[in-house]
Amino acid sequence: MEKTDVLILGAGAAGMFCAIEAGRRGRRTLVLDHARAPGEKIRISGGGRCNFTNLGIAPERFLSRNPRFALSALKRFTQWDFIARLDAEGIAWHEKTLGQLFCDGPATQIVDMLVRQMREAGVELRLGVEPGEIRAVPDGFEVATSRGPVRAASVVVATGGKSIPKMGATGYAYRVAESFGLPVVETRPGLVPLTFAAQELERLKELAGLSVPARITADGVCFEEALLFTHRGLSGPAILQASSYWREGMPIAVNLTPGADLSAALRAARDAGPKSAVRTVLARHLPERLARHMESVTGIEGPIGAQSNATLERLSQLLRQWELRPVGTEGYRTAEVTLGGVSTDHLDARTLVARSVPGLHFIGEAVDVTGWLGGYNFQWAWSSGWAAGQAV
Ligand code: FDA
Repeated sequence: MEKTDVLILGAGAAGMFCAIEAGRRGRRTLVLDHARAPGEKIRISGGGRCNFTNLGIAPERFLSRNPRFALSALKRFTQWDFIARLDAEGIAWHEKTLGQLFCDGPATQIVDMLVRQMREAGVELRLGVEPGEIRAVPDGFEVATSRGPVRAASVVVATGGKSIPKMGATGYAYRVAESFGLPVVETRPGLVPLTFAAQELERLKELAGLSVPARITADGVCFEEALLFTHRGLSGPAILQASSYWREGMPIAVNLTPGADLSAALRAARDAGPKSAVRTVLARHLPERLARHMESVTGIEGPIGAQSNATLERLSQLLRQWELRPVGTEGYRTAEVTLGGVSTDHLDARTLVARSVPGLHFIGEAVDVTGWLGGYNFQWAWSSGWAAGQAV
């Protein structure tokens, strides 16, 4: 029977990073993945440029039943540590917006770096292998695989979440956790477009394709970025962010004029040109199509000179508090991440080991730690992979 010190399941961001650390510590390390290529999500991320971390890493930018759980790993291997790794390799990067760091060149530079560093650390990577049941044995674990069983003193489950099944995502990590009696926090798609019911879609279809800056609030949390109207509902960074906080049945509040004193602007426009149509005045603040739509939503139309202060106040209020009611999300098919996962209650924050199963670690997206859009999820993958890599 094949034996190794450390068996890592999943050659994604977290698994490869963990493998490098374990290999550098002299541990005999084997990485298995059922895919044909490692790090596929790194390759396609950030529009092919990989938004690999964020300068503003902070616990409140992660969702988890216990948001402070991630802090230990994030503090021990920080965004600056990852940046230093790229700098040492001469991989150029830039800040795009909101602290988001992207490669200047293709994201494959990061995949290539990780694969090479694994090789240099003596790690063996085997692709096209399907792992099966994991059993505890006296000196570690025995893992069934499509190429025969493997024994290992430590097993690291780094198979990610359920997002994008077309790319090989499975619920394997959750099944492993449950087979060892470890609870899994309910999983759902995150960073995902929201969808409308047919009736709402019919009302909004004239806006499809439009992108506007907006402040979106879901469940009391707000994000100010672009909002995109689609043929199925809503997307754009502000919506993807809000989707992680949104639940079925909840409305979302859209502020179409964040940061502007629209009420004062409407009164000034009335004084300057009372004959202008409300829609014409709105079109100075919103794209024409949206101005027309909001005119019909609010029912406030005609010349602006005919509108009282109270009506203009009501109009600006409606534009700041436009309530929309999505009915669902586009699901795992397009979700960037999976919310929920292996409960942090039973994991050690320092080593990511299951406290009741010494030697069994869970890292990366498989764990109930999900970051905002903007490089937070890769930083969690690097940090949790690094932390487990010191312990296996
Ligand atoms: P990841 O999913 O990367 O790796 C899991 C590995 O396990 C895969 O190689 C998979 O093949 C393998 N696997 C799964 N099931 C298996 C099984 N049963 N048997 C064997 N192997 C199995 N984040 C960010 O911070 N910045 C960004 O720019 C983006 N962009 C982005 C774009 C898109 C389109 C998506 C879908 C996601 C992002 N993300 C992102 C999120 C980011 O990709 C994600 O959080 C990390 O890849 C998670 O890393 P993991 O290593 O945990 O899982």
